[in-house]
Amino acid sequence: MVRELDAVERIGVVGAGTMGSGIAQVAATSGYDVVMRDVEEAFVESGFESIENSLGRLVDRGSIDEEEADAVVDRIEGTTDLAALSDCDLVVEAVVEDMDVKQDVFADLDGAVDRDVLLGTNTSTLSVTTIASATDHPDRVVGLHFMNPVPVMEGVEVVVGEKSSDGAVELAHAFAEDLGKETWEADDKPGFVTNRILMPWINEGIRAFDEGVATKADIDRGMKLGTNVPMGPLELADHVGLDVCLHASETLHEELGDRYKPAYLLKRKVDAGDLGKKTGTGFYEYD
Ligand code: 3HC
Repeated sequence: MVRELDAVERIGVVGAGTMGSGIAQVAATSGYDVVMRDVEEAFVESGFESIENSLGRLVDRGSIDEEEADAVVDRIEGTTDLAALSDCDLVVEAVVEDMDVKQDVFADLDGAVDRDVLLGTNTSTLSVTTIASATDHPDRVVGLHFMNPVPVMEGVEVVVGEKSSDGAVELAHAFAEDLGKETWEADDKPGFVTNRILMPWINEGIRAFDEGVATKADIDRGMKLGTNVPMGPLELADHVGLDVCLHASETLHEELGDRYKPAYLLKRKVDAGDLGKKTGTGFYEYD
């Protein structure tokens, strides 16, 4: 059994990176008190910086005023102590995409919060069932897969693990909807709906560039103008992070076989440390 949405007031977010800080921001914007935890003070501070930048953009475009932006930040408590999550009513994990690390976090969370607290994982491609197996209560674990940038993207993918209870799945949808998002549901199969389809698209864009089908700008323009998506595959790879794309592609390749093989150039760029926007160089250059 997990709590009903009415009883959810305080949200725990584990991981203060791009996704974790985004989730903390949207939860606080919806009026929840949030505890954002990372392993080092510097990561927590950097999470707050991302939140302040993002809120600044929302203030600039008139979506919220400065007072509201300050109130959002005030509702978020930063910490490096996992025990600070003990009085949370729902926890979302958004740490690095590494099964061992995620399982350690879930094993710790299982002991740190009450039995009826939903544990959501923001994993992009790893198995929710395997992550949940690190707990004594896998029925309360579901995938809550937010999209990047979290404050702007309208959808959240709810992923149903082998042992996820109906109540946990229902609460995951209700919570995401309460954050102003729309949801869809996927079974716990590699990549779920989004990354199973998105990663081959990105890899094909990279291969098309590597094989000289068109310039990178024309590959992105072609897909944007030709299929009405906001970003082409190379731009989107840079936005998501080439390391994230490579990791997701490798997981899909391992689980689903050769049709998911990552593009050679994606691997070469990650090896060279060119990870996209976050390092200033990916397929494009950024200030
Ligand atoms: N916080 C707040 N506001 C933001 C923001 C942020 N982090 N990022 C962008 N915005 C706002 C901007 O301020 C701008 O507002 P305005 O229209 O009022 O001026 C608006 O969003 C549009 O931003 P930009 O003008 O900078 O640029 P774009 O029009 O290109 O929009 C984008 C940027 C919203 C990222 C858009 O290009 C987009 O939707 N791209 C596709 C993103 C996508 O597909 N994400 C999913 C990736 S897959 C994933 O996350 C799964 C994972 O598991 C890998």
